Amino acid sequence: MLRDAERIVVLTGAGVSAESGVPTFRGDGGLWKSYRPEELATPEAFARDPGLVWEWYRWRRSLVARCAPNPGHHALARLALAQPGRTTIVTQNVDGLHHRAARAEARERDPKPAFPIEVHGAIHRDRCSGCSHVEDADLAAADPADSGIPRCARCGSPLRPDVVWFGEALDPAMIGAAFAAAEEADLCLVVGTSALVYPAASLPDVTRARGGRVVEVNLDSTPLTPYAWKSLKGPSGSILPRIVP
Ligand code: OAD
Ligand code: ZN
Repeated sequence: MLRDAERIVVLTGAGVSAESGVPTFRGDGGLWKSYRPEELATPEAFARDPGLVWEWYRWRRSLVARCAPNPGHHALARLALAQPGRTTIVTQNVDGLHHRAARAEARERDPKPAFPIEVHGAIHRDRCSGCSHVEDADLAAADPADSGIPRCARCGSPLRPDVVWFGEALDPAMIGAAFAAAEEADLCLVVGTSALVYPAASLPDVTRARGGRVVEVNLDSTPLTPYAWKSLKGPSGSILPRIVP
């Protein structure tokens, strides 16, 4: 199917990065101190205690800085680069690992066809809470013990990570492009997501409604499993390199 599909949309979640050492949100090891992500990744949490939220994000940044893409990211990058324009990768992850795999796999080619649509933003960027100016941040410099609140060089407002928090709207252009890809696809490959967080979780439904097939790669069953044409149970870092031609 991966060989014959005309258009492929890939939806990834935290599970695709688990073998890189990035903790998932739900399940074992998805905790930070005694907080749940739902308590920290919100505009209310940032308004109440921006230092605490920054501490959490600096911890996550320093962690991501020490991680590398795994064979699952690399296989997806190869899939997308093999025929530019055929495969669209949509990720809920903010870790930038798809980008890094794309650059590595592209070598002298253009890596862009393997760059994902990041519907939940990117942890390696800061965004001003006042003027919305966006800037790259140095992940490796993030000190998890630092609870200071960085400020915008332009307007002095507090900076925040350029990610989507619970209760916030997604960038309409991003999610629009993701839905367009799901509509055009005859195959939706869903990798390492609990398929619980909307609207991303509805992308496979869009492909299915248009007559396309859904193939899932996950360690466990999800709400999507009963609807999947095929469910491949196991770690994406070993399954994806085996199924990507
Ligand atoms: P979750 O943590 O909810 O789910 C991770 C999924 O990956 C689970 O279904 C696991 O079974 C599966 N999994 C874990 N390790 C795996 C492996 N090695 N190979 C294959 N599958 C594996 O993460 P997401 O579904 O990505 O949103 O969560 C969705 C969103 O919820 C996140 O983007 C984030 C969070 O709140 C925002 O921050 C807006
Ligand atoms: Zn500003």
